[in-house]
Amino acid sequence: MREEGCLPGVVDLLAGATIDGEELSRVRFITHLLLLTTAGNETTRNAMSGAMVAFAEHPEQWDRLRADRTLLRSAVEEVLRYTSPIAYFRRNAIDEMEVGGVTIRPGDLVSLWYVAANRDETVFADPDRFDVGREPNPHVTFGGGGPHFCLGASLARLELKVLLDEMLDRYERIELAGPFQRVRSNFLNGYTHVPVRLS
Ligand code: HEM
Repeated sequence: MREEGCLPGVVDLLAGATIDGEELSRVRFITHLLLLTTAGNETTRNAMSGAMVAFAEHPEQWDRLRADRTLLRSAVEEVLRYTSPIAYFRRNAIDEMEVGGVTIRPGDLVSLWYVAANRDETVFADPDRFDVGREPNPHVTFGGGGPHFCLGASLARLELKVLLDEMLDRYERIELAGPFQRVRSNFLNGYTHVPVRLS
């Protein structure tokens, strides 16, 4: 599978990866590559676009962050909670269990609505408020834990932190320069178009 020198960076690493000493088959290599490129792209892109909308609609939160850069970490977490770029994922139940008074049986298909959990008023005070200083912020934007928890959570957090940090240095104001358009999807909570004016 691996041809020395042809593939840069992460692609090269993946091409050289082994599981129990065996190289990935061509199908596994391609599906992993597709997973990484889509999972790492649709999500962070929509979190960034969502951040622009959130700060344009809540300019006082941008001012607050500009005045106190120590809020950057909690601001990133709040952007993740507030934008929730992945609306839901699904599990196939293998054991019987009860969740919220509902019995789930083996074989049931259960959807986990991260968008709803991230606005759960029993967990978050005033959940519809965008608050860059929100603490604690136990959002489930990257999943609720377990073996499938987002592989790229740290990278996504870093990307958002760098973006906001650089923008804080450059711009006093983020404004919408026209109406934004959302992606027509019940899986991706994202945008096709967000015109912004930065000043
Ligand atoms: C804001 C950005 C992101 C969000 C909201 C997000 C969200 C999620 C969610 C909800 C899951 C499913 C968790 C579960 O089923 O328990 C997931 C899994 C995954 N994510 Fe992300 N993700 C983001 C960024 C990234 C990035 C940057 C990468 C890679 C470069 C990535 C790679 C993956 C992979 C490979 C999985 C599957 C993990 C597995 O099934 O073992 N994600 N992500």
